[in-house]
Amino acid sequence: MSAQCYSPGLDGIPAAQSGISYIDGQQGVLEYRGIRIEELAEKSTFLETSYLLIWGELPTGEELDAFQHDIRYHRRIKYRIRDMMKCFPESGHPMDALQASAAALGLFYSRRALDDPIYIRDAVIRLLAKIPTMVAAFQLMRKGNDPVQPRDDLDYSANFLYMLNEREPDPLAARIFDVCLTLHAEHSMNASTFSAMVTASTLTDPYAVIASAVGTLGGPLHGGANEEVIMMLEKIGSVENVRPYLEKCLERKQKIMGFGHRVYKVKDPRATILQSLAEQLFEKFGRDEYYDIAIALEKAVEEKLAHRGIYPNVDFYSGLVYRKLGIPTDLFTPIFAIARVAGWLAHWKEQLAENRIFRPTQIYIGHHNRSYVSVDERPGRSL
Ligand code: ACO
Repeated sequence: MSAQCYSPGLDGIPAAQSGISYIDGQQGVLEYRGIRIEELAEKSTFLETSYLLIWGELPTGEELDAFQHDIRYHRRIKYRIRDMMKCFPESGHPMDALQASAAALGLFYSRRALDDPIYIRDAVIRLLAKIPTMVAAFQLMRKGNDPVQPRDDLDYSANFLYMLNEREPDPLAARIFDVCLTLHAEHSMNASTFSAMVTASTLTDPYAVIASAVGTLGGPLHGGANEEVIMMLEKIGSVENVRPYLEKCLERKQKIMGFGHRVYKVKDPRATILQSLAEQLFEKFGRDEYYDIAIALEKAVEEKLAHRGIYPNVDFYSGLVYRKLGIPTDLFTPIFAIARVAGWLAHWKEQLAENRIFRPTQIYIGHHNRSYVSVDERPGRSL
């Protein structure tokens, strides 16, 4: 292999063939299994969309009922997992708590039968059902409260908000939250999906696959950016400070959080939908103080960076929606993970169907033919 083949960050290198989602970054198009994200956001639900992503087709009425029923049935988590989570430090980040809890599921469901469609379905159901319960449980436990049990009479998103806030959510809030999950459910090849696929390719269990993807999603250049956006808006503090703040960042070559994307060179279509969801929430529950700052920042960034294809990405407006729903900032990324479990599972299933273990090469740029020097003969070195 020659040095010319090397592409840092694997930029532009296909790592898989996939039929799950499609992005046209120049036109701002995102499709799940061929259906535009705008249509799914308007007409579908997160669970129906998850089924579409994982099994490739929209479910029939019967299939959807069975899928929803089974997910309701499996929402509870074992008391030993709750006890384990109670031992997590309350100062720990909820993404770390989620990664550890997701991995722990593998201890309790240890049978591994990757060629058995019933095993695959059970794992899909368990992960979609239990991840939200674990996120909500950690949130209550770190405040010193006992987790609340899921409510079987509530839909997926309403139940999550109920478990989180210990009260039934407003129907508009629950519907908007469900749309947010749909928007975040899948996004073709990206760092966490790649991580899930590499782990899947070793034929390990699906809980390890999801745990490794959760760990990857947590970084500030990936899913963690939604949290950083709110911190940035807080730091900017006022519309008047938007331009000086931006100038300073550009001068120091600092990234503006929530902007830019490896693939989209126009505004991310999910950012457009999220902005309109935020506006619906503001209309019903009052405007967020940071929204004017966000709009002014989008305008200022557009003036400065649009010629380089840098526009708002999915993380720019999602934080404002979650803030209005009363969700703490450090739960934004775990919520992203709740949604993305659907996409990761779809890629897990696709990977298993045509598996070959990932084993890329590297270009060695280190030394050769050096001699070992004993410790007392080594020259001093400041580290
Ligand atoms: N603010 C300012 N400049 C930017 C930004 C930004 N948000 N994003 C990219 N640029 C500039 C870079 O400084 C770089 O300039 P240079 O060529 O002069 O060095 C150029 O655009 C290319 O940037 P890269 O980081 O190399 O682009 P890449 O495709 O690798 O990165 C990424 C994409 C990581 C998303 C980047 O845009 C970024 O760090 N954005 C901020 C963090 C963020 O919002 N992440 C969430 C992404 S969406 C998601 O993961 C769910």
